[in-house]
Amino acid sequence: MNNPSPVLLATGLTGAIGQALVALMYPSWHIIGIRRSPVNVNTSIECEWIEADLSDYDTLARRVEQALLDRHITRINGFVHVAGVVYSDDIVHTTGFEWEKTLNVNLRAAFELVKVVKPFLFSPASIVFVSSVDALMASTLGPAAAYGASKAGLEGLMRHLAVEWGHEGIRVNSVMVGALREGMGVADPQEAHGLSEHTALGRLGWAKEVAPAIQFLLEEHLSSYITGHTLRVDGGLNLAY
Ligand SMILES: NC(=O)c1ccc[n+]([C@@H]2O[C@H](COP(=O)([O-])OP(=O)(O)OC[C@H]3O[C@@H](n4cnc5c(N)ncnc54)[C@H](OP(=O)(O)O)[C@@H]3O)[C@@H](O)[C@H]2O)c1
Repeated sequence: MNNPSPVLLATGLTGAIGQALVALMYPSWHIIGIRRSPVNVNTSIECEWIEADLSDYDTLARRVEQALLDRHITRINGFVHVAGVVYSDDIVHTTGFEWEKTLNVNLRAAFELVKVVKPFLFSPASIVFVSSVDALMASTLGPAAAYGASKAGLEGLMRHLAVEWGHEGIRVNSVMVGALREGMGVADPQEAHGLSEHTALGRLGWAKEVAPAIQFLLEEHLSSYITGHTLRVDGGLNLAY
């Protein structure tokens, strides 16, 4: 491919944070999104698509690698794992299916995809994982142990990758999101009000307030000496007790 724009490969671009990210990065970046299905997707999202289910780890790596080769992609400048799923259940009622699905989409897909993109990454390059405050603490809105475990794992993977690949000029960071009013966030106004009281800024956030943090960590000229870092974007959640 003869494209002068840096190439961004990302998951979860059909969701709230993903769409906000595309709105920010396009057209200065050439964006390739990995989506589950072309059905019911906002066709105005400015990117090319690779179809792959992130929970299907048997086929995920092969599908994405082949799709990159078919498109004659030789270099990827940034990879962002935005996609996520959550099941709200306490640990006793969390099924094996829910546990596996959550871990596969939120954590294993990141593990599989960084291995796929590695041969396409040349210094300087940047990887960003979208994580959650649930990696550190349980939510008062309801238990979601599988989700919390997956995001804690993602944070660990981020730090290990930062060490393993730092010498090759590949930076790896995460954006740890608090509670938003959209996407996987809190739709119910009463619940949103309750959580706002635990937030220093006194309100929940929006996807468009998360996307610039991802952009910051992707752009070499903005964050060239930052790696292994968790950037919290949570409005000051639980700063006071
Ligand atoms: N919103 C919040 O309050 C909040 C708070 C903390 C952390 N986060 C994190 O932020 C990230 C994005 O959240 P969001 O609010 O933008 O959520 P969202 O609007 O629900 O988007 C989730 C994205 O993940 C994709 N996805 C889920 N399962 C998939 C699969 N099996 N294969 C391929 N794609 C799959 C969805 O694709 P489909 O369109 O195919 O479903 C969608 O693009 C997540 O990692 C989430 O954990 C969000």
